[in-house]
Amino acid sequence: MRTILIQLDTDAHPSVFDRVVAVDAGVDEVFSYGGVQPDTVEGLVHGAIFTRGPDDLRNTALFIGGSDLETAERVADRAQQAFFGPLRVSVLLDPSGCNTTAAAAVIAVSRHVDLGDCRATVLGATGPVGRRVAHLLASEGAEVRIGSRSLAKAERLRESLRKRLPDGRLLPCQTATEAETEAACRDADVLVAAGAAGVQLVSPSLRQHWSRLRVAVDLNAVPPAGVAGIDPADRGVERDGTFCYGAIGVGGWKMKIHKAAVRRLFESNDQVLDTDAIYRLARSLILSDG
Ligand SMILES: NC(=O)c1ccc[n+]([C@@H]2O[C@H](COP(=O)([O-])OP(=O)(O)OC[C@H]3O[C@@H](n4cnc5c(N)ncnc54)[C@H](OP(=O)(O)O)[C@@H]3O)[C@@H](O)[C@H]2O)c1
Repeated sequence: MRTILIQLDTDAHPSVFDRVVAVDAGVDEVFSYGGVQPDTVEGLVHGAIFTRGPDDLRNTALFIGGSDLETAERVADRAQQAFFGPLRVSVLLDPSGCNTTAAAAVIAVSRHVDLGDCRATVLGATGPVGRRVAHLLASEGAEVRIGSRSLAKAERLRESLRKRLPDGRLLPCQTATEAETEAACRDADVLVAAGAAGVQLVSPSLRQHWSRLRVAVDLNAVPPAGVAGIDPADRGVERDGTFCYGAIGVGGWKMKIHKAAVRRLFESNDQVLDTDAIYRLARSLILSDG
C-alpha cells in the first residue's frame, strides 16, 4: 500500500521545504493543504481516517507545520481530538522546523557540556526554534536565560514554558542592546543564537568578553552570521576555546532527524512526534553515530 503524508500547514502556502523532505524520506504521496486552522482541521482528518481500514492506517500520517507555532499546536490538538478508537493516524509536529532544529542544536551542545550542570543563553528565544531550544535545555536541567529584545516577551515565554516545565530554571532577559546581550551571555557556558534569518545578534566585539563560553551554536544560515566568527559549516570546530556550530553544521543533523521522524510515522498509526519525542529519536540517531 502506498504511504501518504498529509501536510497540514497554517501558512497560506504549504512549506515547499517540508514537502521536499517528505519525498526524500521516501513517502509515496504528499497531499498538501495550506491555511489550515484549528476549526477547519477536523474534516481533513476525517478524510484521512475513514478511507483505509484500521490495519492499513499506518500507511497514512499527518505532518503539521507552518510559521505560527501556537496555531500549529492548536491544529495538532484538534486533529488528535478527531481520532477515535482504532481510527487514528500518526502525527509529526514541526512548525518552522522548530522541533527537529532544536533537537539537533541541543544534541550539539550536549557533546561538550553536562546539560544538567550548565548555564545557557538562548538569543532570539521567542521564535519557534528558540522556544524549543529553551524548552529542551531546561528540560535537561540547564539554567536557561531566554533572550528577547523585549523583556515582556521573554517573561511571557517563561510563563508559557513553565506550563510544561514547572521546575524549569528559566530567566527572562532583555537583549535589545549590545550591553544587555553582553550581560546575558557573560557567565554562560552555552550560547545558542536563534534569531531571525540574516540578523547578527553577536558582534565581533561582544564575543571577546566571554571567556567562559564552552559551546556556541548559530542557527542563522543567511549572512551576516548570527554570531560573528562562527562559520555556517562549523560542526564542533574549536575557536578560541569555544566549540562552534553553524547553521549548516547543525542543519545536516536536522535533515537526518527530520527524515527519520517522517519514516518513523509509518511504523504504526498511533504515534505523536512532538518536541520531546523528536528529541528522544534524535538522541538515539545522532549520539549512536558518535
Ligand atoms: N540550521 C537549520 O537547520 C535551521 C532550520 C530552521 C531554522 N533555522 C534558522 O533558525 C533561526 C530561528 O528560526 P525562527 O523561525 O525561530 O526565527 P524567527 O521567528 O524569524 O525569529 C526569531 C526571533 O528573532 C528575533 N528577531 C527578529 N528580528 C530581529 C531583528 N531585526 N533583530 C534582532 N532580533 C530579531 C525575534 O525575537 P524578539 O522579537 O523577541 O527579539 C524573533 O522571535 C533562523 O535564523 C532560521 O533561519 C535554521
